[in-house]
Amino acid sequence: MFGYLAILLGCLSLAQSTPQVRYDDYKVYEVKIENLQQLQLLNAQEQRLQLSSWREPRFAGDSADVMLPAESVQAFEQLLQRQHLNYSLKISNVQDLIDAQRPKQRLSHMEWTQYHTLDEIYAWLDDLQSKYASIVTAFTIGKSHEGRPIRGIKISHRPGNSAVFIESNIHAREWITSASITYFIDELLVPSKPGVRHIAQTVDWYIIPVLNVDGFVYSHESERLWRKSRLLSDPTGACVGTDLNRNFDYRWMEIGASADPCSQTYAGPFAESDPEINQLTRYINESIPAGSIKIYISLHSYGQYLLSPWGHTDAEFPEHYPQMMGVAKGFADALVRRYGTVFTYGSSATTLYAVSGSGKEWAYAVKNITIPYTIELRDKGQLGFLLPPEDIIPVAREVTDGFVGMIEAARGIQVL
Ligand SMILES: *[C@@H]1O[C@H](CO)[C@@H](O)[C@H](O)[C@H]1NC(C)=O
Ligand SMILES: *[C@@H]1O[C@H](CO)[C@@H](O)[C@H](O)[C@H]1NC(C)=O
Ligand SMILES: *[C@@H]1O[C@H](CO)[C@@H](O)[C@H](O)[C@H]1NC(C)=O
Ligand SMILES: [Zn+2]
Repeated sequence: MFGYLAILLGCLSLAQSTPQVRYDDYKVYEVKIENLQQLQLLNAQEQRLQLSSWREPRFAGDSADVMLPAESVQAFEQLLQRQHLNYSLKISNVQDLIDAQRPKQRLSHMEWTQYHTLDEIYAWLDDLQSKYASIVTAFTIGKSHEGRPIRGIKISHRPGNSAVFIESNIHAREWITSASITYFIDELLVPSKPGVRHIAQTVDWYIIPVLNVDGFVYSHESERLWRKSRLLSDPTGACVGTDLNRNFDYRWMEIGASADPCSQTYAGPFAESDPEINQLTRYINESIPAGSIKIYISLHSYGQYLLSPWGHTDAEFPEHYPQMMGVAKGFADALVRRYGTVFTYGSSATTLYAVSGSGKEWAYAVKNITIPYTIELRDKGQLGFLLPPEDIIPVAREVTDGFVGMIEAARGIQVL
């Protein structure tokens, strides 16, 4: 018996000591992008200079954030100077920031002073279900490619409420999303302010803190900057993973998505190829009363944007664009009041960076959900995906304020 346990523990610690991908002396540069040609110029050098995109520019005059190894720095800076692009160094050693995110001592309970593992988040969800049984319903939409349950929570104080649906951490490396949305769940259950109590009681909240569970675990254990799912799409096994936010079944693979399995924006072999997305849409179809979801949020980081449809074109606007912008303003205006964090809002398509096959597009076009957003949390690239643990609570607090403002604004124009 104890021998067996010892072997088991031995295996566990072995699994945890598999070497992690390191980013010693990797840099992140911000490059100001004025037009599509400049963006294409950067993209064309991706392989030669081992560039990896951290942030795409959303509109002309926005900037791109690009990571590269130390050995590419000279060639990269020469290229930018030759082309008269403005740039600045944002992060001089990516590995230092990765190390700063790792707790020296793991707390087993949630305190939002460190980034938690999937197991810790799930243990906490179990507690919530028993502690707040009358208002909390835990649900599972199904299993991931690697067999992990994909879990969510419904918070409902009374029947007949309209609903808000939030999926978070669909991109594995965006840890601040699950960290802040779990804090928000805690606020909804134990509101410290009347505004939060009001939105907890008068709206049903469906929240999936970590949708891309396989990628999330992989980003904790092996590669901190992993983005995609862990589905093996490429027959040679050289490239793994689908960009789950390009895998939805609306205008799949039309624009801003890649057919190359090695790409960070690989849309998958076909629409809803990945079980995470297929089961998410099935859950929304079959387990949530039709028409009850009025707001759909896909929570991401980073860049401080709130983006609405359309993603595939900026030549036309969706019918509900004025409502989308009104509610976005409610979010951004409430959020900025706490610490002055400015969010930019608008439709996500620009001539610079269009996307299709994303969650918010599917929510609007297929499910008729009036207010669908992609929200990109802090920051603007100073630390990017690698916000220190001390930032979790401030980010979560301002987002909570934003959601209160969002619900008030939606009420004001009868969306809810
Ligand atoms: C670069 O920045 C300088 C000073 O801010 C500005 O005058 C110039 O127009 C910029 N150049 C480009 C290509 O954006
Ligand atoms: C979900 O419902 C939409 C129509 O509302 C349908 O087009 C889609 O195929 C459904 N998806 C799943 C997985 O059930
Ligand atoms: C979409 O929703 C609007 C308003 O909520 C409603 O008038 C319309 O009939 C719905 N369309 C479909 C196809 O469900
Ligand atoms: Zn993302």
